[in-house]
Amino acid sequence: MPVWRLREFRDDDLDQAIQVWEQSRMATAGEPVFALAEVLASARAGQPAVVAEVGEEMVGMAVARIQGERAWVLLVALAAQWRRRGIGSALLTELERRLRSNGVRRICALVPEGATGSVAFENSGYLRRTGLVYYELVEPLAPAQSSLLAELGGRLLPAGLWQSMAGMDREKEIIERRIVLPLANPDVAERYRVRPPKSVILFGPPGTGKTSFAKAVASRLGWPFVELFPSRLAAAASGGLAASLREVFADLAELDELLLFIDEVEEIAGARVGTATSPAHGVTNELLKLIPVFREDYSRLLICATNSVRSLDSAFLRPGRFDYVIPVGPPDEPARTEIWRRYLGPAAETIDLDHLVQATAHFTPADIEYAARTGAQSAFERAMREETSGPADLEDYLTAVANTRLTLTPEILTAFEQDQTNYTRL
Ligand SMILES: Nc1ncnc2c1ncn2[C@@H]1O[C@H](COP(=O)(O)OP(=O)(O)OP(=O)(O)O)[C@@H](O)[C@H]1O
Ligand SMILES: [Mg+2]
Repeated sequence: MPVWRLREFRDDDLDQAIQVWEQSRMATAGEPVFALAEVLASARAGQPAVVAEVGEEMVGMAVARIQGERAWVLLVALAAQWRRRGIGSALLTELERRLRSNGVRRICALVPEGATGSVAFENSGYLRRTGLVYYELVEPLAPAQSSLLAELGGRLLPAGLWQSMAGMDREKEIIERRIVLPLANPDVAERYRVRPPKSVILFGPPGTGKTSFAKAVASRLGWPFVELFPSRLAAAASGGLAASLREVFADLAELDELLLFIDEVEEIAGARVGTATSPAHGVTNELLKLIPVFREDYSRLLICATNSVRSLDSAFLRPGRFDYVIPVGPPDEPARTEIWRRYLGPAAETIDLDHLVQATAHFTPADIEYAARTGAQSAFERAMREETSGPADLEDYLTAVANTRLTLTPEILTAFEQDQTNYTRL
């Protein structure tokens, strides 16, 4: 006589079911096809589900889901000490009985190689079909989150944006170490008593890649990206800008994960000058109040970008509101080489890159992108005129470089140097 007995699953089995599931999973290398939540949802919805128990203790569980004449076995799980005693086969037999009485004629299972329960399938006459491939496409956001995100004008960015940032190793390294890694590995961070950042400022001249970095971080974390445009805050709304800002933050709080990006933040967090009743004053005050609340939630990061860190209100920059204030400067030589390489594509192999890199000191990534595009365009136009003409060469690119209006004037560069000394906080 077996010491265990079988019975129907009950809702109060939930805690023990989770334990049995975990023990079962630890015995297998592969990820199961059906997630615990799916299995339990089926069991609770009255789909066939049986448990094996010894005394009060649950030692095994099997769940199936019926679809017409077919049923999928979602789970055969056994507690660690109760394997190889025939419990798996007994659970399956009981499950099959219920399925047959519901008109099921084909019972199937999809399990990782060597999963708990495999022995039961083999022993119970299941045919092993090899050479099949399991495909799956996972929607990263739950439907409710997905529509909320769309309403807020946000989106999930494609993977790989981080890798497509060429050069900029200095900035990349800081952002990776200080921001990405702690947020992506919260457990490790906690063990080392590192508090993942909640809000940071990127400052630097136009076109150096601040927006691109913010997007790249969202892409790496796999978090939704929402950009807040100060200029689009409804000033006309009752209560004005401040109320409008408060509303946006309240809506954003509904997202489970979020990278919020505020570009040109000086527009709403400029130094408070003039009378305390001016609207600009109100919105700066509001943002100062909203940031600490935003910081309380997990899985969210605020990145503010500005070309003019010196015009930010001093209260805004105080430690406690922002974890880091990070400069994003013009690319140095190695960075320019990488950026040129990125925009030239295969042509980079045959063109004198060094020459281009030397000719573009003080160019921003955006300037290089522009020069590369212009060089390619003029070669294209030449080819349209004369058939013998080839793709863009060094000459084309150097002409384009000469015709590029520099973003960074000596004044901007000097100001940036000073800002780095005065405001950087890493
Ligand atoms: N590291 C990089 N590698 C390749 N392209 C880059 C890099 N950084 C920036 N770019 C390109 O330069 C352009 C400007 O970048 P971005 O908009 O991120 O700069 P920004 O600092 O946000 O500028 P602004 O201050 O004007 O908002 C973009 O087209 C971007 O693709
Ligand atoms: Mg930008």
